[in-house]
Amino acid sequence: MAKISVFGIGYVGVVSAACLARDGHEVIAVDVDPGKIKAINSGLSPIVENGLDELIAQVVADGKLTATDDVQHAIDNTDASFIAVGTPSAPDGSVGLKYVTAVCENIGRALAKKDGHHSVVIRSTIVPGSCENTCIPTLEKASGKVAGKDFGVGYYPEFLRESTAIEDYYDPGLIVFGAMDDYTTRILTELNEGLGCKIHVVDLRTAEMVKYTSNTWRAVKVTFANEIGNIAKASGLDGQTVMEILCSDKKVNISSYFMRPGFAFGGSCLPKDVRALRHLAAELDTPAHLLNAVLEANEAQIKRAENMIAASGAQKVGFVGISFKPGTDDLRESPLAELAARLIAKGIEVKIHDPYVFEAYANDNSTAGRGNDVIPDLKERMVESLDALIDESGAVLVGNFYGETVDRLSQAAQSRPVLDLTRMNRKLVSGGNYEGICW
Ligand SMILES: NC(=O)c1ccc[n+]([C@@H]2O[C@H](COP(=O)([O-])OP(=O)(O)OC[C@H]3O[C@@H](n4cnc5c(N)ncnc54)[C@H](O)[C@@H]3O)[C@@H](O)[C@H]2O)c1
Repeated sequence: MAKISVFGIGYVGVVSAACLARDGHEVIAVDVDPGKIKAINSGLSPIVENGLDELIAQVVADGKLTATDDVQHAIDNTDASFIAVGTPSAPDGSVGLKYVTAVCENIGRALAKKDGHHSVVIRSTIVPGSCENTCIPTLEKASGKVAGKDFGVGYYPEFLRESTAIEDYYDPGLIVFGAMDDYTTRILTELNEGLGCKIHVVDLRTAEMVKYTSNTWRAVKVTFANEIGNIAKASGLDGQTVMEILCSDKKVNISSYFMRPGFAFGGSCLPKDVRALRHLAAELDTPAHLLNAVLEANEAQIKRAENMIAASGAQKVGFVGISFKPGTDDLRESPLAELAARLIAKGIEVKIHDPYVFEAYANDNSTAGRGNDVIPDLKERMVESLDALIDESGAVLVGNFYGETVDRLSQAAQSRPVLDLTRMNRKLVSGGNYEGICW
């Protein structure tokens, strides 16, 4: 069993402190609010949360949880400290780090006087880079010690939801943390083992980003459901029924499908259908902010690829893939075709290797080139051999993923820019001649 101090006895800190104590750990809760300290030491919950009154009463009576404002006492008598103070928005919308910084200063000063190892684990929600740029320098300055060597550091975001916080603690949907050192990794792993949820151990920044991605995704879901509800109501329909049916599809709709960063959406359905729903909303005098933003953001992703190509300086660009996705020759509203057309309009020479579109032309299909109404002379731009395409190109743009092309394209990056919209190999990250659109 570990000895843990929890700094910040707010909605997160108090639940975490109480649950750790129930699990048998010795917990010291630290806060600057005397009312909260008094409440806990009297066996009372300082907040209203299902099941917490009974839990606090029990763990305080068992001597497993105490509260104090004495930072040195808390550091000297525990192996690790969790920081769960608030991070309210600053007036410009940036994350407010003043409480986190103040706690790091306090903990750092106490660490200066402590012999033996101690881990500092931040649980507050902080933007990527905050641990490295703010928390660690503050702790090091105040302690005169070196993070990762003289004391441990971790970032371990909390995902509990108020009102079901205790339930969420014991049945989490997601566990992720980053740690600078083995000691901290071991403590956090031991605390989470046995919860029946995969433990993702990553670097500090990735853990920080996962937390924001999670909350933003929830916000997007709420907003999307509301917007559909509004349009449905204006159409005389029940939006909740519509969303319930939508969510019954766990294969595509509620799944990781379409949740992989990469290039813009296109094809014969998504763009036209988002436009049509937006048009219907406008006819019904119903705002559709998110639908507008979806189309704007999709256009911005095409522009981003255009900027990547411009930055490469290439005047001859070889496209690998031009149809709207691999496995088809369908070019309707392909964002790759749109991208190629924009380059051609700027005077850049574009050649294309796409096995499916090529085959349609080779077979003399009546539908060959189907859906292309933006690229001039498409047939003449098609190149059968990938080697020939690479040899002729100042830069290669990987637009569609074809497994058989990966080795050759990876080699091509040794001699010329390879701009990848697909992440043809999961291990690749931007560097040298290789540039991924968002990795
Ligand atoms: N509330 C949630 O459901 C939830 C869920 C996940 C993550 N988070 C994140 O967790 C963090 C804490 O959120 P919260 O809702 O529990 O905040 P809160 O405002 O309820 O609690 C913060 C506590 O920190 C204390 N505090 C401030 N300065 C201190 C200091 N120097 N030393 C010790 N204690 C100090 C405050 O007195 C307060 O009791 C935030 O970053 C939040 O974004 C919140």
